[in-house]
Parts: sequence; structure tokens; C-alpha cells
Amino acid sequence: MENLRKGFPVLEQYTYLNTAASGLLSEAVWEFRQNHDLDFLLGASVFKENQAKILTETRELLGETFGCPHAQVALVPNFSYGFNTLLEGLEKPQKALLLKNDYPSLNWAVESRNFEISYAEINESLEKNIAEAFEKRQPDFFAFSVVQYINGIKIDLEFLQNLKKEYPDTLFIADGTQFCGTEAFHFDKSAIDILICSTYKWLNAGYGNAFILFKKEMEEKIAPKAIGFGSLQGKYKAHEGNFIGKFEPGHQDTLNYGSLAEALKLIKKIGIAEISSRIEALSTKAKSEFTKMNLLEESVVNRAEHSSIFNIKGNDKLFEYLRSKQIIVSQRGEGIRVSFHYFNTEKELDFLLKELKKFGV
Ligand SMILES: Cc1ncc(COP(=O)(O)O)c(C=O)c1O
Repeated sequence: MENLRKGFPVLEQYTYLNTAASGLLSEAVWEFRQNHDLDFLLGASVFKENQAKILTETRELLGETFGCPHAQVALVPNFSYGFNTLLEGLEKPQKALLLKNDYPSLNWAVESRNFEISYAEINESLEKNIAEAFEKRQPDFFAFSVVQYINGIKIDLEFLQNLKKEYPDTLFIADGTQFCGTEAFHFDKSAIDILICSTYKWLNAGYGNAFILFKKEMEEKIAPKAIGFGSLQGKYKAHEGNFIGKFEPGHQDTLNYGSLAEALKLIKKIGIAEISSRIEALSTKAKSEFTKMNLLEESVVNRAEHSSIFNIKGNDKLFEYLRSKQIIVSQRGEGIRVSFHYFNTEKELDFLLKELKKFGV
């Protein structure tokens, strides 16, 4: 365990329970970034001549990690850019289904365009609410976060499989930002048609990098408008009319996408099974202890499966108290959000619980 923590110096300073806000920079990614910019400093265009292979490697590693053909992986700077570009490629008006109070960059991007929108509530009966909304309005697309950013409620992926069978024509567009990197996930076998993910959180890749995975049929259903010289550059985009190039119109940044490749290599080295079992163990214990202390909302307590993000009852004073103990968390929604990644330990959870009790919650 200590070995897994060693590569993240920030863990020596803080009890860091805040991956849902920002992942960590590992030494491996930092070293790549140092070398990249030193080489750029000394080589300029001579250095850049060889950089296309970084983008290819990143795309291929993403395809391997998430079970998606390489030519259906687009590299974008963040979730919001990718999602807005995607929405411009959808004909309007269309019937959209969203989750009420889902992440703002997701809901606002749909609400600011000419779609007919309905909403399903995020609560204990999330899946039932979604099924009812489908029955009522048969949306053309359903856009949602796999894991909710405020309280960590995770949609049942098996339920999505069944729903997709019933409504094969509805596009399922998922935000994987609070999900990808926490457990094994095979995109091609999933019900999701398009998955977009910012990678600075659970993938620990730093900022300025994100990706989109597409099912092959999306090429017939979406007509993205963005285009530029970059649309036709690189191993998987050289041919005219290629689809992913429409999401990559300009010169791509090899520092940021290269960082993502390094972060993916680290995940591969540790193993996603190991990562997910560590997260699950922490999440199970945290949920049970927080429940005993009456710190969670009922809708979370009553769900069978949950992520490792929790929103515990607490005000500014508790937040400041935790901060004074070097426990790093976020204020979100009505309470305090804590989140556990594989590099966190039971000892850290116990320390949090002890400090919560000391504070008097
Ligand atoms: C569910 C979800 N999606 C997306 C993002 C971030 O999107 P972006 O990188 O475009 O700002 C966040 C950040 O908190 C998030 O929680």
C-alpha cells in the first residue's frame, strides 16, 4: 500500500479526500511533463516532428483501457468543450432527458440550446424515475452523469442495458468524469452510445485533457460542424471525412495528452481490479460509518450500490475545522463532499471519523 502512495507526494502533507474535485499529479506524470518541456525548450519544431506518436499512443491506450476501437476515440481538452461540440452536431429540436441538478456543464449546455427538455429526479429511485420519464416522452437523447458530483449516487449500468434494449433509438450520452478510473468498464459492451470524460479527477492525468468514446453508428446519427487542418492529421484521422477529426480541428497539445497517456500507464501497472477493490472497501466502510453517525441523506443510505463520493451533513465551521486538521474535502450542495480513491487508506478514513466525532457531529 505504501508503495502506491509513494508516487503522490501530496499524500505526505494532507489527508486528501478530494479526488472528486481534483485528482493528484503523480511523480510519473510530473516527470513526463518535465522532460517534455525540456525537450521542447531545446528542440522547438525539431522536437515537435516526433510528437504525433504521443497522440496516437494516448488514443490507443484509451481504447484499450475502456474497450473502444481506436478510431472511435476523440481527444478533447475537457468535458464541456467535447459535450458542446457534440450537441452542435445534433439536429434540433429534439426531445432531451436530463437528471435534475446534474453537473451544471452538462445540463446548461443542453438547456442553452433549442431542445425540448424533461427531467428525472436524482434520488433513491433514480432508475424508476428514468424509466417513467422514458415511458412518458421517449426522448431522442438522454444525457447524464454516471456518478453524481454532489452526492455520489451512481446509475445502475445494468438497468441502462435493459433500458437501451427497450429504446434502441434513444442516444445515451454519458458523462464519465466522476466514474472512469474507479472500476473496470467496457464501453463497447455497455449501453452507452457516447461517453465523455474529463481526466483530471479519477484518472489523475492533470488538466487540459479529456476524451470522447463513440459507438460506430454515431457517425450516421451526428453531424459535428467543427473542422480544421488538425481534423486530417495523425494515424486514425488521415482520411477525409473521418469522424473523430471533427472533434479535433486544431493542433493538439502533446504535454496534456501525453500526461494522460502516462496516467493510463500507471493505472495499467497497478491494475484496475486492484484499484476498484481498494475503492470498494473504503466506500463500504465509509458508508456504514457515516450511516451510523446519521451523516448521509436517506436516498444514499437506501441505495444498494454507491460510488466512493459522499456528501456528509456539515456547515462552514466543520469544513474549516477539517481544513485545520489538513483534511482536504469540498463544500458542495448542502454539505461537505468527501471522496476516496485507491491511494487513500482505512487509517485516513478512521482519522476523518475521529475528527468528525471530536468536532461533535
Ligand atoms: C460530473 C462532472 N462532469 C464534468 C466535470 C468537469 O467538466 P470540465 O472539465 O469540462 O470543467 C465535473 C467537475 O466537477 C463533474 O463533476
